[in-house]
Amino acid sequence: MKFFIDSANIDHIKEIASWGILSGVTTNPSLVSKEGKDFKQVVQEICGIVDGSISAEVISTEIDSMVQEGKEISKWHKNVTIKLPTIPNGLAVCKILSSLNIKVNMTLCFSVNQALLCASAGASYVSPFVGRLDDINQDGMALIKDIAHVFSVHKIKTEILSASIRHPAHVMDSAKAGAHIATIPYQVFKQMIQHPLTDKGLEKFLADWNDAMLKKVPDSVKV
Ligand code: E4P
Repeated sequence: MKFFIDSANIDHIKEIASWGILSGVTTNPSLVSKEGKDFKQVVQEICGIVDGSISAEVISTEIDSMVQEGKEISKWHKNVTIKLPTIPNGLAVCKILSSLNIKVNMTLCFSVNQALLCASAGASYVSPFVGRLDDINQDGMALIKDIAHVFSVHKIKTEILSASIRHPAHVMDSAKAGAHIATIPYQVFKQMIQHPLTDKGLEKFLADWNDAMLKKVPDSVKV
């Protein structure tokens, strides 16, 4: 499974990119507006940091303006993927943009049927929102499993991008359920790499090494 970061914060993206594990970035209007910067500038900066799919979302909901926005944003960088909401106009625009070879990520997906429609419209990615389903007491991970099953039965090429991830178990379960990608918030990446036994083990290895090195120093140079 590939890892994307779900963020528009340049420092956070740079830090996680430095780990060498990022294949892409997803942004949304809420994440971009938190940064208080120009949208185009943020997207282009991100494209300069991560060499992979960078999702940038349109903010109009009418077909003509969505197409116009999508075409304009796609010119900002070769790696830009246009993010569209999973609504009827979003499907129509997905069909138009994907037939122009512009990659589309269909966002705010909450059902298998929506995912199937997105795939039929030519989406490169579909983003089921796991955490927001859990928030309303529905099983977000069951949706990932069901979409993965149906896409595999029908040999659908659209990639499942597990989104709205809230904690490390969501990442592990997305991988088990068959998501192709998980888009992960900065804090969750930090939690994923932590393990108390790693820290304890490293501390002991280094302490043993230093002890052994001290023992090797001839008595004549010991202070
Ligand atoms: C996905 O692309 C979205 O940006 C994101 O995962 C939304 O997550 P949230 O429910 O934490 O806002």
